[in-house]
Amino acid sequence: MINFTLITGASSGIGLEMANVCAEKGMNVLLVSLPNEDLAATSKSISKKYKIKAEYHECDLTELSDLNNLLKWVEENGFHVNFLINNAGFGGTMAFDEMSEGYINKMIDLNIKATTHVMNMFIPILKSNSPSRILNVSSIISDIVAPYKSIYAATKTYVRNMSLSLAYELKKQGISVSVLLPGATPTNQVVSSQIEQGAYAARATVMSANEVARRAIDKTLKGKKIITTGTRHGLIRQLMLALPYRLSALISINQYEKQKNKDESNRN
Ligand SMILES: NC(=O)c1ccc[n+]([C@@H]2O[C@H](COP(=O)([O-])OP(=O)(O)OC[C@H]3O[C@@H](n4cnc5c(N)ncnc54)[C@H](OP(=O)(O)O)[C@@H]3O)[C@@H](O)[C@H]2O)c1
Repeated sequence: MINFTLITGASSGIGLEMANVCAEKGMNVLLVSLPNEDLAATSKSISKKYKIKAEYHECDLTELSDLNNLLKWVEENGFHVNFLINNAGFGGTMAFDEMSEGYINKMIDLNIKATTHVMNMFIPILKSNSPSRILNVSSIISDIVAPYKSIYAATKTYVRNMSLSLAYELKKQGISVSVLLPGATPTNQVVSSQIEQGAYAARATVMSANEVARRAIDKTLKGKKIITTGTRHGLIRQLMLALPYRLSALISINQYEKQKNKDESNRN
């Protein structure tokens, strides 16, 4: 039986690096992301470089009908998925009262709803191909009081909490669940400009997408439930957890208030 690892948000950033790391380890991959010109070429080049099977499916994970079509595509092609990586997600920095209805919906639909529905839909497949794994991508911010990133942080808290609960619930069914808490990873314009603008919390945890992906896959394969990306990152997380909310909120305000007007991705 030929098994596959399905990765959402695999056309760029951490997801693309995860696809490369998995392929390097000899795993066959299914790449999923929004329709764009590069996914076919990416899939072909990964397949050729690592001599593994790579297929792709373009869809908008915020559309329920697209989620159903994704499942149908996997079933009709008989892909035996035994590793599901829920990586697609987006963030931004914005005052709550400036967020549009569209912005709020898009963030909740992608970060929360898509992650939840994809997991829920794929459980029967993962069970039938067990032992299987799920890796969900949360964020270091999921533990932090985050003014100006209120909805993003809350969506990532949801992902972390749900993943941990399911880690215990799905164990009996032969499915391990891990959750990744990356720090700042310069993958796109938003994060890169945050790092450049001198956000010290971002700079203290910065790590390349390849390094993040490598640690995430290695630790998931070892069955680790909560994955931080390194000792320094783990220590910063523990420190933030130990601080009273009042103090962590002050640190966040200091970090994010100045960024909120510069974040171009907020305009959607
Ligand atoms: N970068 C960081 O500093 C950081 C830190 C903590 C957590 N994270 C989390 O890590 C994950 C990956 O982040 P990243 O920085 O690598 O992001 P990224 O470079 O912006 O890549 C996001 C990926 O998700 C895909 N995507 C976006 N909206 C989609 C939709 N509606 N349907 C299907 N696919 C969609 C994108 O596809 P297209 O390329 O086709 O648009 C792309 O492949 C996210 O969950 C993010 O919240 C990132």
